[in-house]
Amino acid sequence: MPDHTITLTVDGAERTVLVDTRTTLLDALRERLGVTSPKKGCDHGQCGACTVLLDGRRTLSCLKLAVAEDGGEVVTAAGLAADGALHPMQQAFIDHDGLQCGYCTPGQVCSALGMLDEVRAGHPSHATADLDAEVVLDDDEIRERMSGNLCRCGAYAGIVAAIREVATAEGLTGDAAGRAVGQTAGQTAGQTAGQAAR
Ligand code: FES
Ligand code: FES
Repeated sequence: MPDHTITLTVDGAERTVLVDTRTTLLDALRERLGVTSPKKGCDHGQCGACTVLLDGRRTLSCLKLAVAEDGGEVVTAAGLAADGALHPMQQAFIDHDGLQCGYCTPGQVCSALGMLDEVRAGHPSHATADLDAEVVLDDDEIRERMSGNLCRCGAYAGIVAAIREVATAEGLTGDAAGRAVGQTAGQTAGQTAGQAAR
């Protein structure tokens, strides 16, 4: 099979790598570039452990061919911690015990941030009762929208609580009390990646 040289921006750094055209984005990151934040759980698009933000959208990197993403911008959970400071979503996962073994956690964090952007953009989910109304991110909505990310050891209660805290701080849960906090917590993945690049 032919090889192809691609360039990706990964967590703010431009990386060029020669890949077999059959190589997935996940394998290019982990095996070729040494970026081990995204995890390989199922390798079949069923567990979410490999989730990264690709050009700002949550993406299962095991289902993407690396050559098709030449020129793309990848943000992993590791890239969210700018200058050693945890992203508010990362901190919330710690504060709410949203992890046990931690294997699914990088994917959960990236997926949560991508999901919040989808809510801001007004995307409905299967749990959205009124498609004409503004989405209110209650716990049922969080569970449904995060249902593609599995946690084998059962940290779901903490994961939902962590996401709820950040979503509330950003004014997405209909709880106005959190909006003031949101000015610090409302740090988008794109902003953080940009900081990491500097
Ligand atoms: S490793 Fe990609 S979804 Fe499981
Ligand atoms: S924390 Fe163990 S699989 Fe999620």
